[in-house]
Amino acid sequence: MSEASLPFGDYYRQIYAAGAAGESPALPVSWAELEARAQEALDDRARGYVSGSAGTEDTYRANLDAFRRWRIVPRMLRDVADRSLATKLLGSELIAPVMLAPIGVQSLFHPEGELATARGAVAAGLGIVASSVSDNSLEDIAAAHGDAPHWFQLYWPNDSDVAVSMVARAESAGYGAIVVTVDNAFPGWKPRDLQEAYLPGLEGRGVANYVKDPALRARMSNPDDPGEGIGMFLTVFPNPSLTWDDLDTLREMTSLPILLKGVLHPEDAVEARDRGVAGLVVSNHGGRQVDGAIASLDALPDIAAAVGDDLAILLDSGVRSGADAFKALALGADAVLLGRPYVWGLALGGAEGVETVIRMFLAELDLTMALSGLTRPAEIDRAALEHRA
Ligand code: FNR
Repeated sequence: MSEASLPFGDYYRQIYAAGAAGESPALPVSWAELEARAQEALDDRARGYVSGSAGTEDTYRANLDAFRRWRIVPRMLRDVADRSLATKLLGSELIAPVMLAPIGVQSLFHPEGELATARGAVAAGLGIVASSVSDNSLEDIAAAHGDAPHWFQLYWPNDSDVAVSMVARAESAGYGAIVVTVDNAFPGWKPRDLQEAYLPGLEGRGVANYVKDPALRARMSNPDDPGEGIGMFLTVFPNPSLTWDDLDTLREMTSLPILLKGVLHPEDAVEARDRGVAGLVVSNHGGRQVDGAIASLDALPDIAAAVGDDLAILLDSGVRSGADAFKALALGADAVLLGRPYVWGLALGGAEGVETVIRMFLAELDLTMALSGLTRPAEIDRAALEHRA
């Protein structure tokens, strides 16, 4: 078997073999240590931006705690030699039921920003969801991500010409789906960013897709004036008037599958399905929007029960290990989005750091599945878990 076709779990062999040759892993293997090292490496603003959540950060903690209340009950003596994590989702062939979550303004974490993330992801073969508010354009990110599947996350601008233009650009750049984030009409009340009085957009970060957009440039008196570009971004960004009816317009703009990111109530999930949405990301934005909101994992079972047979269901917020991903799959997700942990890899090692984080994460997921007696994501279901108060 070639190295590339080995199960992801076999990554441990490479690590031990390198150790026998005197080489230790470049990044901390423990997720907690990885986070701590990344925090040390970042300046105050970048640290506050990636780590901060809304209010008392109660929902941030609830996301993590929810995973601890579910325990895996492994089954023994089942042949698990032949395994695969490969998953087909909304027409995209994924190597595993995992993609990278859209995270904005990545130049705060590494000079190459989203391009490093895209290169790290494609080196590992993983799909990504690219953020609207990136420091590299969606076209450049798609090019850096090569043949691996990428989806585009849309912050739906309040200017419909700009919305049409961005969706058309994503389509022609080869994105396989549009992920509309619906929980961010305003930035949440995030004390860490507020204390630094820091909003990246005001210093021209996260605006690459906007300042290059032909529809937006057509609105400007001097399209090459960075100050005017930032002003335009701030004008078109917030869209608190968005409603379910607007989804009909979006469906007319594109033939790509549409997902909604940020759904937590089963009735919203049903409405999404009835409006022709193809998938959902069950998410509270990593606790960054409504402090006190339900943990994503706690919202998942009811949403999966309501629409899981009809829609692709993804989950993010609090996924910190392969075991967490396994639990989300068992509770009805078809895939998870990995968020902050890849930023820690990006901060410490650029593209290589992202690739390493992905390989560690997939190794842990593959081993968790195998050591639990299962060989395919589709076999992972509620029977693999026990709930503990
Ligand atoms: C985000 N998230 C996010 N979501 C989105 O739809 N568009 C975006 O541009 C961003 N930007 C962003 C920046 C930072 C610094 C963070 C931490 C998060 C939310 C992201 O996609 C995902 O929902 C959360 O990261 C999940 O929470 P955890 O698992 O990372 O804690």
